[in-house]
Amino acid sequence: MTVTTESEPLLDDGGSRRPPSNAERRSAAWWADSAPTVSNGTGYGSVAVGGLDKRPVGAEDSNGGGPGDGGGGGNGCAVQQAAPLLTYTWTSLNVFAPGARPARAPLARWFQRRPSAPRKHLLKNVSGCALPGEVVAIMGASGAGKTTLLDALTFRSDRQLTVTGARALSGTVVTSSRDLAGVAAYVQQKDLFVGWLTVREHLVFQALLRMERRIPRTQRLRRVRQVMDELGLTKCQDSIIGVPGKVKGISGGEMKRLSFASEVLTDPTILLCDEPTSGLDAYMAQNTVEVLSRLAKRGKTIVLTIHQPSSEVFAQFDKILLMAEGRVAFLGAPQEALDFFARIGAPIPPKYNPADFFVQLLAVVPTEEATSRERIDRVCDAYERSDTAARNALVTDYPTKGWPPTAGGGKPWLPLDASSGTSRYKASWGTQFCALLWRSWLSVRKDPLLVRVRVLQTAVIALLVSVLYFGQRMDQTGLVNINAALFTTITNMTFQNVLAVIKVFCTERAVFKREHMAAMYRVDAYFLARSTAELPIFMALPVLYTCIVYFAVGLNADPLRFFTCVAITNLIGLVATSFGYFISCAANNMSTALSTGAPAVIPLLLYGGFFVNLDTMPSYFSWIQHISWFRYGNEALLVNQWQDVPEISCAGALNNNSCIHSGHYALQVYSFKEGSVWSDIGHLALLILLFRSLALGLLIIKAR
Ligand SMILES: Nc1ncnc2c1ncn2[C@@H]1O[C@H](COP(=O)(O)OP(=O)(O)OP(=O)(O)O)[C@@H](O)[C@H]1O
Ligand SMILES: [Mg+2]
Repeated sequence: MTVTTESEPLLDDGGSRRPPSNAERRSAAWWADSAPTVSNGTGYGSVAVGGLDKRPVGAEDSNGGGPGDGGGGGNGCAVQQAAPLLTYTWTSLNVFAPGARPARAPLARWFQRRPSAPRKHLLKNVSGCALPGEVVAIMGASGAGKTTLLDALTFRSDRQLTVTGARALSGTVVTSSRDLAGVAAYVQQKDLFVGWLTVREHLVFQALLRMERRIPRTQRLRRVRQVMDELGLTKCQDSIIGVPGKVKGISGGEMKRLSFASEVLTDPTILLCDEPTSGLDAYMAQNTVEVLSRLAKRGKTIVLTIHQPSSEVFAQFDKILLMAEGRVAFLGAPQEALDFFARIGAPIPPKYNPADFFVQLLAVVPTEEATSRERIDRVCDAYERSDTAARNALVTDYPTKGWPPTAGGGKPWLPLDASSGTSRYKASWGTQFCALLWRSWLSVRKDPLLVRVRVLQTAVIALLVSVLYFGQRMDQTGLVNINAALFTTITNMTFQNVLAVIKVFCTERAVFKREHMAAMYRVDAYFLARSTAELPIFMALPVLYTCIVYFAVGLNADPLRFFTCVAITNLIGLVATSFGYFISCAANNMSTALSTGAPAVIPLLLYGGFFVNLDTMPSYFSWIQHISWFRYGNEALLVNQWQDVPEISCAGALNNNSCIHSGHYALQVYSFKEGSVWSDIGHLALLILLFRSLALGLLIIKAR
């Protein structure tokens, strides 16, 4: 390794970019001085992996072991399967964000051509690598691009961002999060949980879906306890996680540790953590980095971003990646960084925390933006010309360019074992469904918005309707009031259920998206489990409502009619729920869903037949009636109420001509057919299927 220590001017690092010799590349000192020499078991013989695929001492060769391969693990006691060792490289990553468009008057938006806004260049030719057995810490000032880089590395960038460049796992280019599923885990900066679960319940759920299928349940639970102990979560294991700003739960630091615990539970081969120590006290921060360091020692590849690590924490990093303004300012061992900065004329003052120094040097100071940017460019340019960058490029360019012809020789890492950890889901469909059903049921049971508040809301509205339409008689006034009460039932079932579903389902969307991206479960398993868990409450509420209103209003006294009415209201509630799922899945967020949900119901409501006679509606809108549960529900309820009612008193009629004197005539007024209850019930059931299928289809499309 050709690291010079003499101080040189900031603009000239004195090193020209040259590829290292073959001997140098194979030398143990290339990336790290202490890397052990192991056989890669691939036919290349025994190579000094020298930090390229650094194998931890004592780790077995997952690729080796075959007869005649000369590989490791041939000591006759290699019962335990070693985890694969994976090198992660990224080459010339560029991330662009669409530029913000200038605000214009509402009308101008329609009539003027949109000026093309310049794209924002968030990551600029960022290359780097993380090797098994090492902790790579990404550091830089706020806004330097650390999270953007980790998102790009895990294929979790925002849809609106354009990402170019190559990412590769042990030399094999990966192109989507699917390729990383089961191999890499990502602890994101923002903590997202189902807030009504306790810490333990959350971890058990994670253990059920993330750990290998063959691991028995007792072992999973043991692992949960072990991780909770290790991360200091045992004392809050039975506390509710909480929803920030809504329900107080565990502390911010505990939440951070819980996010981290969820990922380390599975012992992933590559672990990427965005600020795992933020919000933690010095002891817990050190403890967290120690856990990561221990994982690295067992052959894991660890990449983390960190703000202001203490000197003790900094000492645990094997490599640092310094970023500034979306560029790489340095990538290499911490000691090399000290030498590099000394060489370019920015030596670290004695007794100074190097991390603080780097971040301050590479920050854009608000009052001196031009000078700061100029300084950052000089450092980044110096790094690009340095020997360190040239050596890094050999590794990072390999997946796209291969070895330079002069270098020759074997591969810089052990090849990816196709059989190891490449299956997308760890749990079977059945296990996914059961675990999701369990979690959804827990949150349905505990969420007061879903149970207590909704029961109270239903009871209050039912009592209000009962008081308003109490004790109707079989006369003309009673006829109008009964019909109104029945239509109010449909309206109430609709709005109550649509809004409740939107609120609950949209709140959980972010958690779903993250967990699905982490290959925990399939979309259909989630959707089915979620809707099944909510079924009891969505079915119980119409029963409660009908029981109160039916007898208070004095509807048809035949018991069979009562039970039919309960069944119809239930179906109406379920169609509305399904429509709520459809709107929630079609919209991108809760506010869009809430603002489109209610207006979308109005045309369907008009086709209910209550406000206007269906025979007089314009024919070009007639298709709406086929998807209007108001129409089928209203027809079913009215036919159930009035069919075979022989006589209705004319009391309350203006004159004899306007008197509706029988149930048969009452149905004729609305163009409803007698005996249509069963066909309406069938239509309602079909609408449930239709809206749920559409919702599931949309969710699958959006989850891609
Ligand atoms: N989707 C986006 N659209 C536009 N700009 C974005 C987007 N995502 C990130 N940026 C911008 O990219 C820059 C880098 O953001 P990033 O979140 O990666 O910073 P960071 O280094 O993680 O900062 P912090 O330490 O504060 O978390 C910031 O200026 C940010 O405003
Ligand atoms: Mg960040």
